[in-house]
Amino acid sequence: MKYYITTPIYYPNSSPHIGTAYTTIAADAMARLRRMKGDDVFFLTGTDENAQKIVRTAEGCNMDPQSYVDGIVDKFRELWRLLDISNDDFIRTTEKRHEKVVQAIFNRLYDKGDIYKSEYEGWYCTPCETFWTQNKLVDGKCPNPDCWREVELLKEESYFFKLSKYQDRLLQHIKDNPDFIQPASRRNEMIKFIEGGLEDLCVSRTTFQWGIKVPFDPKHVVYVWLDALINYISALGYPDGEKFIKYWPADVHLMGKDIVRFHAVIWPITLMALGIPLPKKVFGHGWFLSREGGKISKSRGNVQDAFELIRRYGSDPIRYFLLREMQWGVDGYYSEDDLVEKLNSDLANDLGNFVSRTLAMIVKYNGGNIPAPGPSTDLEKELKELSSKVKQTVEEKMLACDPAAALEAVWQFVGRCNKYVDETAPWNLAKDPGSKDRLNTVLYTLAECVRILGIFTAPFMPGVPKKIKPLLGNLDLFTDWEQTDQWGVLQPGTAVQKGEPIFPRIDVTALMAEKPAEQENEKSAHADAEKEKSKSIAEIKEEITIEEFAKLDLRVVKVLKAEKVEKTDKLLKLEVEMGQEVRTVVSGIAQHYAPEELVGKKVILVANLKPAKLRGIVSQGMILAASQGDQLEVLSLTKDIPTGAQVK
Ligand code: MSP
Repeated sequence: MKYYITTPIYYPNSSPHIGTAYTTIAADAMARLRRMKGDDVFFLTGTDENAQKIVRTAEGCNMDPQSYVDGIVDKFRELWRLLDISNDDFIRTTEKRHEKVVQAIFNRLYDKGDIYKSEYEGWYCTPCETFWTQNKLVDGKCPNPDCWREVELLKEESYFFKLSKYQDRLLQHIKDNPDFIQPASRRNEMIKFIEGGLEDLCVSRTTFQWGIKVPFDPKHVVYVWLDALINYISALGYPDGEKFIKYWPADVHLMGKDIVRFHAVIWPITLMALGIPLPKKVFGHGWFLSREGGKISKSRGNVQDAFELIRRYGSDPIRYFLLREMQWGVDGYYSEDDLVEKLNSDLANDLGNFVSRTLAMIVKYNGGNIPAPGPSTDLEKELKELSSKVKQTVEEKMLACDPAAALEAVWQFVGRCNKYVDETAPWNLAKDPGSKDRLNTVLYTLAECVRILGIFTAPFMPGVPKKIKPLLGNLDLFTDWEQTDQWGVLQPGTAVQKGEPIFPRIDVTALMAEKPAEQENEKSAHADAEKEKSKSIAEIKEEITIEEFAKLDLRVVKVLKAEKVEKTDKLLKLEVEMGQEVRTVVSGIAQHYAPEELVGKKVILVANLKPAKLRGIVSQGMILAASQGDQLEVLSLTKDIPTGAQVK
């Protein structure tokens, strides 16, 4: 069977980071599994280079856009190499092969009457590369909640694409094909969005020249999203390339939730207009957020150098952590501490120890050769049954784009293997010559478990089978997925080695010592500043009992509206939602927050504080904030806890 999987093509306006790496790693795991199942896989990734923001960033660095992107694209390629990404192609939208296809498609849509010339007057958000109408803006800014940056007014001659013409067909397709947009939450969002009415899309720009020229009107460059989406077929050699004929339609377009809209509207309509079948699935996963809150992104300044992380921990642990943490359909959290924790517990303790113990026991109790097994018992039968169940679960979960659940199933097997060691206690069997047959069965079964785990983990951590191979007789045993529930594959007599642990534990103290000196300096400067600050920290108030504390009724509320209280410079009047109720609260935070920064935030309200009148407004509670000196931050929630929930 053929299997075509894609990642988004990334903007090379800045280096890749953990957030952008997730999609590529997830797609890689899916591609690897399908290859191991014997499918004919094509896995595509690449870079989206014709964006206005690239021009801006390059200008800021006094560079021409091409040289600028060339440097960053090298970093993407290098990161994918270090992360063991097995893409079959890497497309750059500045390549001739892509430009040719985009121009041919533009011509075709124009000839067909689906693209027409008119004038665009409206707003543009360069960071999101998105057009917005006046009524969509929020307080005059980009309405994308992750952006909310300034937009620019555009008034220019443009070509438009008749999205409206295809609205009903698209809606019908989405409704008839529940798998087309996944998860269901994004599908419902898209249905609502399309039902709200599609406007024709501006698909060319004239105010800068970087990009693919409209072939019959070269003062226009093609709008970057139309250009970018076409990569999925230009890389296959559309319209008559062998690969296009073989691999299209795509089985999965994998991406973050923020760009599903483009893939669920502009892309299928382009394909419909060209008379090409639509992709089978558009899947939008959640984002990686930092523990402090907010998406991991360059613009928020909370990204960590991915290259440095790989140097410290290696590629497999990073792949494992990201794949395991991103639960299906929701956001995940990333922090280096959590990464180290998972590495030590799941990889070093659970998996690594099992492999080491097994091999050490074969060396110790059978001279380093895998013994021929004696008769089996229910315990071995149970392991065999579990391997089939895990195999099936992994396949199903990966088909549903859920690597976290697939890994959870694999770890169920890891856990069972460890339990089998404890249950069979080979060290006791070894003491009793009468148990030799049983010991042989156990050691053989354990070696088989190591082999099977090498295959189970291979799509997620391709480095694991490479490490196990020399320990298990240097045999090529890890490429055939079907062998995960076949037992009796290892030949008795195969020589094994103890080797080094496949995942050494991370010693956190040693790690800190290894971190670069500047970081240490930064840390000590930070510590000094903290010491300085702490001098002015207020004294702890008198003790209270838990009963006294329990009198406080703290609740999660969402800020619906915020405005300055007239004739004061400190007060904001907030309207907050607490379950079914809406309350008014006056808060002295106006010098720290612009009203619009608070709207949509979930904050904490002292809900049973006696109402007080401030500047004629009755305040029904108090918002909690942390403050020191002239700093202040309202305490807010990063998870989606419903309003009205108690804070205890
Ligand atoms: N160039 C467009 C995609 C065009 S596809 C035809 C683009 N590029 S991007 O570089 O901004 O983002 C690429 C992908 O990275 C998106 O799917 C986005 O959701 C994902 N991520 C960026 N930061 C992320 C996290 N913090 N977490 C998870 N994914 C994130 O959009």
